[in-house]
Amino acid sequence: MPEVSLLVHDLSAAVTPAGSGPLRGREFGELVVYSPASITMAGDRIVAVGPPDEVLSEVRSGAEYETLDGRGRVALPGLVDCHAHAAFLGDRAAEFELRSSGAAYEEIHASGGGIRSTVAATRAGTEDDLRAAVEIHLGWMLEHGTTTAETKSGYGLDLDTELKSLRAIREADQASPVNVHPTFLGAHTVPPEFESAREYVEFVVEDVLPEVAPLARAADVFLERGSFEVPEARRYLEACRAYGLVLRMHADQFSERGALPLAIELGARSVDHLEATGEEGARALAKSAVTAVLLPACGLFLDLPAPPARLLADEGAIVALATDFNPGSSFCESLPLVMNLACTRLGLSPAEALCASTANAAHVLGLGDVGRLAPGYRADVLVLDAPDWRY
Ligand code: NIG
Ligand code: FE
Repeated sequence: MPEVSLLVHDLSAAVTPAGSGPLRGREFGELVVYSPASITMAGDRIVAVGPPDEVLSEVRSGAEYETLDGRGRVALPGLVDCHAHAAFLGDRAAEFELRSSGAAYEEIHASGGGIRSTVAATRAGTEDDLRAAVEIHLGWMLEHGTTTAETKSGYGLDLDTELKSLRAIREADQASPVNVHPTFLGAHTVPPEFESAREYVEFVVEDVLPEVAPLARAADVFLERGSFEVPEARRYLEACRAYGLVLRMHADQFSERGALPLAIELGARSVDHLEATGEEGARALAKSAVTAVLLPACGLFLDLPAPPARLLADEGAIVALATDFNPGSSFCESLPLVMNLACTRLGLSPAEALCASTANAAHVLGLGDVGRLAPGYRADVLVLDAPDWRY
């Protein structure tokens, strides 16, 4: 029996996604509710969760441990943000003002602003500046209950700044209580010094990928008009896969242009956004192993149509939620807000939204030990000062 170091006792409830692995189809939204509940932890692992008497009976008598009074409170798994761009410098305040007076996000991007303006600001900073920025952003996320977060590079788009970004992300992981998952977003957009997407992707594959691959766990591409089309995305993703990186895709954000069939063919882990996905795409996704990551804060801030969330869930797709935290399209670090939007705008139930932001998001990051309250899982426990988990 492991030596217990912390007991959270007499919670109103402890609530966790059921089972193991991603939850889809009829299992999506299946929760286990222990009410009342206690939880014991040893170091960074959960030992037991369940009815207080049962949990206490497994603790060695005379053992010394810290206690936390759970009365009137509810425990959930620490939230998992599986899509976030936290490694950037500068801001897009001027662009936000332009958008408020009618300029479209895609127009600003096409005229050299948008992602490219954040690339310029990020290139101008040092690795220390970037590490400090990532740490600040992770701190904001933690305040909203996120204990595991993906962080993408992708505002460097040259060898030096992509390396700096991924190193800064890894340093911030060491310094922050948030568990960070680094993703190489080398194909975010074409930087101004390149004539074409094809030339830029060749440069990434030949000169950048070999250096950055050891620092990342996944690779991502923005497949969209004005950034990369299917042939360049395929070249980039196949090269990234050869380096052992898990494949992700920004897909169908503004237009459907072949991202989903490519993701399914290449065995990508996820396709993210999907505001422009039609019925056929949603049904194909539902039959596949590719997770649909929905980003309703981005949809809200850019005023995009809703993705086919209900169809995806009902047809059995693996559905996850994330903030898409970034300076341009989703300056939002709050998964509770994202879960709220998933319920109010996408038609998910609170139980589905919770599964999508914990167990299913952990699956996207390939993590089998976060996203649930269960023995052996990381002791990432969110204690809400609220009597009902739906708060
Ligand atoms: O997920 N779509 C591309 N990338 C980000 C936005 C990045 C930006 O605007 O800086 C997104 O929305
Ligand atoms: Fe994104």
